[in-house]
Amino acid sequence: MPSFSTLAFSFALLAYQCQAARPFLNEPDTGITTFLGTDTPAEASGALMPLDDIIAIPDFEFAARAYMSSANYSYYRTGAAGEFSMPAFTILIPFIVGYKILIGFQAYRSNLETYNKVKLRPRVLRDITGVPYTLNTTILGYNFSAPFFISPAAKAGKANAVAEPSLFATLSINEIAAAKAAGQVTFQQIYVRSKLSSVQTDFDEAEAAGSKAIVWSVDNAWGPTRSRSARWTHSENDYDYLPSTWELYETLKNMTSLPIIPKGIQTVEDALLAVEHGAPAIFISNHGGRQLDTSQSTMEIIMEIYNNAPQVFNQTEVLADCGVRYGTDVLKLLAMGVKAVGMGRPFMYSNIYGADGVARLIDMMKDEIIADAGNLGIANVSEISPAALNLNALQPLIYTMS
Ligand SMILES: Cc1cc2nc3c(=O)[nH]c(=O)nc-3n(C[C@H](O)[C@H](O)[C@H](O)COP(=O)(O)O)c2cc1C
Ligand SMILES: *[C@@H]1O[C@H](CO)[C@@H](O)[C@H](O)[C@H]1NC(C)=O
Ligand SMILES: *[C@@H]1O[C@H](CO)[C@@H](O)[C@H](O)[C@H]1NC(C)=O
Ligand SMILES: *[C@@H]1O[C@H](CO)[C@@H](O)[C@H](O)[C@H]1NC(C)=O
Ligand SMILES: *[C@@H]1O[C@H](CO)[C@@H](O)[C@H](O)[C@H]1NC(C)=O
Ligand SMILES: *[C@@H]1O[C@H](CO)[C@@H](O)[C@H](O)[C@H]1NC(C)=O
Ligand SMILES: *[C@@H]1O[C@H](CO)[C@@H](O)[C@H](O)[C@H]1NC(C)=O
Repeated sequence: MPSFSTLAFSFALLAYQCQAARPFLNEPDTGITTFLGTDTPAEASGALMPLDDIIAIPDFEFAARAYMSSANYSYYRTGAAGEFSMPAFTILIPFIVGYKILIGFQAYRSNLETYNKVKLRPRVLRDITGVPYTLNTTILGYNFSAPFFISPAAKAGKANAVAEPSLFATLSINEIAAAKAAGQVTFQQIYVRSKLSSVQTDFDEAEAAGSKAIVWSVDNAWGPTRSRSARWTHSENDYDYLPSTWELYETLKNMTSLPIIPKGIQTVEDALLAVEHGAPAIFISNHGGRQLDTSQSTMEIIMEIYNNAPQVFNQTEVLADCGVRYGTDVLKLLAMGVKAVGMGRPFMYSNIYGADGVARLIDMMKDEIIADAGNLGIANVSEISPAALNLNALQPLIYTMS
């Protein structure tokens, strides 16, 4: 008679093996390895697959992983702490020990997986032929051709298409402004550093360079735990910052004529405070799962705000990012009232092909949104509503404000 612990171990092992057989989540199995005739890209193989063979947005990650050194790839890929390593036995614990636990996902992985818990409700026999002409939107009154944008990233390299350059971008604020296409609207991301005078310099440079808004990253109160990054000894940003508070937000507003968008809002309470402090837009983000492992995914945060304070979506413009890889991910966020959606890593990986890669990604995402909206029976992307979604699987997980 096997002991209880032996049984439990066998179950856990079985689950682990099932999980191992599952295709790697970042790069779902759409036949890329069969097509290219290689099983797995050896990291640092140095070969860059032809851009024409990139068919889907996750292919850029496959290409980047093969092309970059492990150290360089890891800088982009890293999340906080446990990242994607969902312990196999969490699924089995409810059966074996009878604990009622929620299946917990780590932040990085959860960003990718939660969208799949929201199901689409396609309506049929509707005239959707005009849908390609309804992708455009506005952010803070500026026209954009599509409801998605490039999220800010430190060390983004050749950042000529970056819409929200990071303060730690490889190019200076002025260099990025010089490289952007005529008429392209950019927002400048900042961290508030140790001296207000240096913040003033950043504001002045951003204004002079023609940025239309400041994106203030507020989700990094303390330097994060990043195991993957630490392994390759990446230098992290300097965390010698002024205390970031709502009082500081008021002070910053007086230092620039540009609107300041707080990036990294993750709860309904903070969304309400942002509205109270007159934020013209808020940016929902968990920093791509890079700051605090097991923090809520973007879809869960959006539902938390929608359930508890739906007026927020009318009182300010809501932007969001994290884990967006498919047209359906974009549509799910838009349906909840999000105005526009950011992508971080996909743009960074596409940038190894330079502007051609970035342009291809933008085209692919536009095509996906149009096709998905059409098949969903949505004639006008700007008018998609929660009625397009079945949120039941996620509802029990959503926080209720007391
Ligand atoms: C390599 C890298 C660097 C980043 N640097 C910054 C940064 O300097 N400032 C910031 O606000 N967010 C930064 N982010 C977070 C992104 O703006 C964005 O929120 C996140 O990447 C979105 O998740 P996704 O990569 O799953 O699309 C960075 C993300 C990555 C992957
Ligand atoms: C890694 O990144 C550094 C800095 O961006 C760059 O100089 C170097 O060429 C990269 N190496 C590889 C193998 O990708
Ligand atoms: C998209 O562009 C059309 C044509 O210029 C315009 O009528 C419409 O209002 C725009 N939609 C949004 C949401 O800005
Ligand atoms: C934005 O688009 C609208 C039409 O939808 C147009 O009237 C307006 O002039 C455009 N604004 C800018 C700054 O191009
Ligand atoms: C901002 O400026 C306004 C108007 O000059 C002033 O009343 C307010 O006290 C200032 N607030 C801060 C926090 O500096
Ligand atoms: C938001 O605005 C829309 C359009 O004006 C309105 O129909 C809706 O009731 C408002 N929602 C809330 C929660 O205020
Ligand atoms: C799509 O909806 C938006 C927002 O209601 C509206 O401004 C725009 O005119 C609509 N587009 C078409 C083509 O009807």
